[in-house]
Amino acid sequence: MCGIVGAFLRGKPCLAALVRGLRVLEYRGYDSVGVGVLQAGELVVRRKAGRIEELERLLAADAGALDEVSVGIGHSRWATHGPPTDENAHPHCDWRGRIALVHNGIIENYQELRAELALRKIPLRSQTDTEVLAHWIGIELEGAGGDLAEAVRRALLRVRGYYAIAVLSGGERPQMVASREGPPLCLASTPEGAWLASDPLALIEHARDIVFLEDGDVAELAPGKLVVRGRDGALVARESVHVAWNAEAADRGGFAHFMLKEIHEQPDVVARGLFGRVDLERGDVTLPGEFFSDASLKQVTRVQISACGTALHAGLVARYLIEGLAGVPVDVDFASEFRYRQPVLVPGTLALGISQSGETADTLAALRLARSLGCRQLSFCNAVGSTMVRESEATLLLEAGPEIGVASTKAFVAMLVAATLFAVRLGRARARLTRAAASELLGELGRMRMNLERLLTREVVDKIRALAERHKDARGFLFLARGINYPIALEGALKLKEISYKHAEGYAAGEMKHGPIAMIDRDMTTVVIASRDSVASKVRSNIEQIRARGGPVICVGDDEESLAVSDERVVVPGLSPWLSPIANVVPLQLFAYHVALARGCDIDKPRNLAKSVTVE
Ligand code: M6R
Repeated sequence: MCGIVGAFLRGKPCLAALVRGLRVLEYRGYDSVGVGVLQAGELVVRRKAGRIEELERLLAADAGALDEVSVGIGHSRWATHGPPTDENAHPHCDWRGRIALVHNGIIENYQELRAELALRKIPLRSQTDTEVLAHWIGIELEGAGGDLAEAVRRALLRVRGYYAIAVLSGGERPQMVASREGPPLCLASTPEGAWLASDPLALIEHARDIVFLEDGDVAELAPGKLVVRGRDGALVARESVHVAWNAEAADRGGFAHFMLKEIHEQPDVVARGLFGRVDLERGDVTLPGEFFSDASLKQVTRVQISACGTALHAGLVARYLIEGLAGVPVDVDFASEFRYRQPVLVPGTLALGISQSGETADTLAALRLARSLGCRQLSFCNAVGSTMVRESEATLLLEAGPEIGVASTKAFVAMLVAATLFAVRLGRARARLTRAAASELLGELGRMRMNLERLLTREVVDKIRALAERHKDARGFLFLARGINYPIALEGALKLKEISYKHAEGYAAGEMKHGPIAMIDRDMTTVVIASRDSVASKVRSNIEQIRARGGPVICVGDDEESLAVSDERVVVPGLSPWLSPIANVVPLQLFAYHVALARGCDIDKPRNLAKSVTVE
């Protein structure tokens, strides 16, 4: 959830690079921000509650005094232990000021360690779990003969929890050390410098060959040096991964917000997701590796999907696709629930994890549980080199490019594309789907790019903006749909609440009369997703029932009769019901965006949220 960075440069100033890195990682948390640097061998810390601008103000007050420092670490915080105050901001130092530490994660036994520190009369200055670890490393520095990497390794043996940390020590032999157990941490070293960050996006301006630390690794970095040891202190080899994303992908490219840019990227995202994977001639999907072969997929008896948030909604759509196109039964669970119940998984169950980041703690735990129960594991994931990709038996990469907006948009659409491709492959492998039917569906998927472009014209966007302005003060919002679009109702509601803070609920339209209808009045806006499918007439009846009770209805979809009986409408190009969720979600994303904009919300950094949820 927090973002950490580090830079150790050969004779060049590092502060600007640290601040740029923090800006890239700010999506991970924005409660406080800080840096720790070495100035003539002495640790200097600057930290502040608030956003990067606060840190920049602090640094400006130094009037250039730190401009020449070449070694430092930095942090942007998503608060877990202790409120977002200056004292709780990272870096934290040990009581003698010999080391500085930044941390992403949770030290679960920090109370126990805190009690031991109290016995040693070591004073604590913050309410964080992190400060406890800083002191502990300070204690171990003695026994480790002043070697920071060894002190970190020893201190971590006392720690229970999950963390990615970067630690700095000064003196005559400056050292920068990193370790992970759970949250991601990636490193790069060239003769000019060494860098570390929570996300490769913050490294690609410096290096493309990136090492992703494994759990338990302790690494020491310096220009031209990257030494990694395991928990037992033995050297371990870590191969680098080449990351091809370009640096421009991490800026807003002229759009007011990352979210808006990412919504507009969706036609390209669909095209990238299909590139090289579709064979219209054979009516099939080409996915590399034995895992996706007919023989392997024929053994799948059931699919167990685990995911969180938006990815879970993609999983719910995947259930309709896999059951409908491949005839394989599917269960979908919140990863956070799945991991703590005692699931009964029949032999041949395939565990499918879906995640943009590939670092969501609950989803990783769900996949690990499924593996321990003997399941094969597949992931749909966007982040190359992420823990999920590395741990899964096979991955269908989403190819959406970096997603920075906290509200997930393009990754969701990419997940729907991946789910369709996988369902078709499974259906073909199991001879459930004919060549002709698969070819027709894939052909239509190929035209999706063009259809999404039609939903992103100035005319449609202006129309949705006007709709959002008219409805922004509604008391609440109900999103209704049925069948494969029911998860799109959930997603529309999630998007709206997370960035505009308006109360919104997604509901299966057939359930409306069992409760939610009581809320209908003229101040409650209902958004109905109406596709021309087998349940279209039933959704139409819901619209009539809401209007009969004075509730305003916005209809999104391609069912002409539903559109005609609604108060307001956004027409979506006519599509096969299987593919309709990919298009129907786009107006809902734009609606959420414009409601939030009209309400003056901080769209890319909604309150209390973080992009990547690496803690429970
Ligand atoms: O990285 P993941 O896809 O695993 O993230 C899962 C959720 O945390 C994420 O989708 C979250 O719900 C988004 N903020 C939704 O916009």
